[in-house]
Amino acid sequence: MSRPQHFGWFLARGFGPQGWGYPSLDWDYDWTRPEIYQEAARTLEQAGFDLVIIEDAPSLGSADTIDLRVRHAFGGPKHDPLLLAPYLFQATRHLGVVPTVNPAAYLPYTAARQFSTLQHLSGHRLGLNVVTDTGSARHFSDSAQLGHDAAYDRAEEWLTGIRSLWRSWEEGTLVRDPDTGVFADGSKLQPVRHRGAHFAFDGPLNAIPFTDGEPAIVSPGGSGRGLGFAGAHSDVQLALAPLDEASVRAYRAKIQDAAIAAGRSPADIKILFAIQPVITSSAEEADRIVAASAHPDDAALVQIARKQSSDLETDLTSLDLDRPLDITIFGDHVSRGSIQRLIGDRGEDVPLRAHLTALARTGRITDRSGFVGTAEELADLIEELGDWGNDGVLLWGDFHPVTLHRTLDELVPVLRRRGILRREYDEGGLQANLRAF
Ligand SMILES: Cc1cc2nc3c(=O)[nH]c(=O)nc-3n(C[C@H](O)[C@H](O)[C@H](O)COP(=O)(O)O)c2cc1C
Repeated sequence: MSRPQHFGWFLARGFGPQGWGYPSLDWDYDWTRPEIYQEAARTLEQAGFDLVIIEDAPSLGSADTIDLRVRHAFGGPKHDPLLLAPYLFQATRHLGVVPTVNPAAYLPYTAARQFSTLQHLSGHRLGLNVVTDTGSARHFSDSAQLGHDAAYDRAEEWLTGIRSLWRSWEEGTLVRDPDTGVFADGSKLQPVRHRGAHFAFDGPLNAIPFTDGEPAIVSPGGSGRGLGFAGAHSDVQLALAPLDEASVRAYRAKIQDAAIAAGRSPADIKILFAIQPVITSSAEEADRIVAASAHPDDAALVQIARKQSSDLETDLTSLDLDRPLDITIFGDHVSRGSIQRLIGDRGEDVPLRAHLTALARTGRITDRSGFVGTAEELADLIEELGDWGNDGVLLWGDFHPVTLHRTLDELVPVLRRRGILRREYDEGGLQANLRAF
């Protein structure tokens, strides 16, 4: 039997049009209603997953490129995942629900109170995916947009402030003695007075303390600063890295070193690597899919160009596929890392078709060139990650029930038989489940 690991689902397209652009749309779920998400959440809980993380962006992007973001619904619309969370809690008993939150969008006192309320309502199953994206700054104030590191400074101040509010009801404040009629001892409430670089507020918080831990903090940032934030503050890191032994160990070591530097134990943070698998029913089918992906037709390339146009906020769909891509078309606001991911090591002299074809190409799990393979093959990879000390994985996709079943139907029994995937949950909510092993 193998070591158990933690499993999560990263709902990568957020609370938006699930299935848009795919035949599964004709199942006729209404993405604005809770049912499609509730059905998916119940499936994840039956599967023994610890949590679902709901991606989000509060903004449709800049005025110049808004059409590229919404035309095929890659960049929006997105409804607010924090408000979806209660519906998912109601549909499940154990699953952790982790909406994405941006410190720019919530004042600390409001955030502390709303998150506290949800933590109690859910039986301590709330998590918060704390992101530092600054592209949506203009919706919240007219102050200058923060830089990368300053956004992390603000996130640290925000989270530390929220935690000080959550802890403002110190041990013994809550009395709840029906005989004397005393509910709480106000003399024990901590006043909390915060005056920082980004926020100013006073406490104490008007919400009672937690019985089973604070909401779990999740973080996705991959820079040195991002890994440092995870080590110091997070319970879960959403990890993106090549899945070879050296990269996995190096990624984990950076976070664990940061945890130790912050006075925490490396075991306090679960590092979950993100994988978007294509599960096939046979190795032959996987070989066929991978071979076909090397020769995408123009329709497939256009679909990739649409997604890239949304992510890069630059219209690639109107360009000639057979001419070299002139990278001066990308404005200064476009992330250099994203441009680099598009052009890879092919340079600028090759036609756009070559870049899009490279993005279309999938690889086999067996030779570690990609994530197409059978459930047994994926389980082998996950087991190997576990041998390197890894805590678990996040499967990545939309929340359409068709996507979930395609990914999980054969995988769950294989993982269960190998002892990698839990069969039972602990009582005590998300933190208890994360700490169970
Ligand atoms: C895998 C992953 C998922 C992310 N999810 C979100 C998200 O849902 N919403 C968001 O606004 N930013 C998201 N971000 C952006 C990060 O919060 C951060 O702003 C960005 O990655 C830059 O930080 P870094 O250089 O440390 O990676 C995500 C980043 C990564 C790598």
